[in-house]
Amino acid sequence: MSQGRTLTFNIFRFDPQQPGDKPKMVSYQLDETPGMTVFIALNRLREEQDSSLQFDFVCRAGICGSCAMVINGMPTLACRTLTSKFSDATITLMPLPGFELIGDLSVNTGKFMREIAERLKLWLHPRGDGQDIHVLEAPMDPEEAARLYELERCVECGVCVSACATKQMRETFVGAVGLMKIARFELDSRDARSVDDFYHVIGNQDGVFGCMTLLGCQDNCPKDLPHMQQIAYLRRKMSATLVSC
Ligand code: SF4
Ligand code: FES
Repeated sequence: MSQGRTLTFNIFRFDPQQPGDKPKMVSYQLDETPGMTVFIALNRLREEQDSSLQFDFVCRAGICGSCAMVINGMPTLACRTLTSKFSDATITLMPLPGFELIGDLSVNTGKFMREIAERLKLWLHPRGDGQDIHVLEAPMDPEEAARLYELERCVECGVCVSACATKQMRETFVGAVGLMKIARFELDSRDARSVDDFYHVIGNQDGVFGCMTLLGCQDNCPKDLPHMQQIAYLRRKMSATLVSC
């Protein structure tokens, strides 16, 4: 930790809404303080030096997923990244690739998440008609609940999408976040969909067979979700469906 340093932030600036604006890198200097995160630094830069700087945040605690950006070449959460982890006093900030740019460091992850939710039908398809509100909530097996909880921890930050070479090459690839969410519903005994139904959604190059196992998703996910374990599980399930056809 090098307190007392003056940090230089090289920040990508571009406002697609401004006619004639061009992408550029702009440098800002800021004195480092104890416990400073990149998120704290960005807030100070916006309050003290440049009120036009665009970036997103909600929770400041690694929960909402809004503050994801590329920090010194790695996609991650700004509110969980201490400036002290960088021995070099120069920090470069870029927006997450693979998403629509809103401006500067702000990208539209919500649009992508909504699109895959609709495309992959990422909601519970209950057995029966599932509409009787007078039926008492059914208890769930604690082990199953724990397995579901593990996958429910995704904060939809988009880091796994930006870290994925397949997604950067094939725009229609659903990304690790899409596959993790399918795995979550495949595990859920309340969901009426069969493996065959899931195969028709992700049993292709845009889904589970498109992943090149480069591990960018698992290496960078701020919630440490078990991407490769789940993708391998889905692949085995989908392959078994092919064999039984
Ligand atoms: S799986 Fe991890 S990296 Fe991907 S969106 Fe969810 S929390 Fe972010
Ligand atoms: S501000 Fe919510 S995850 Fe960083």
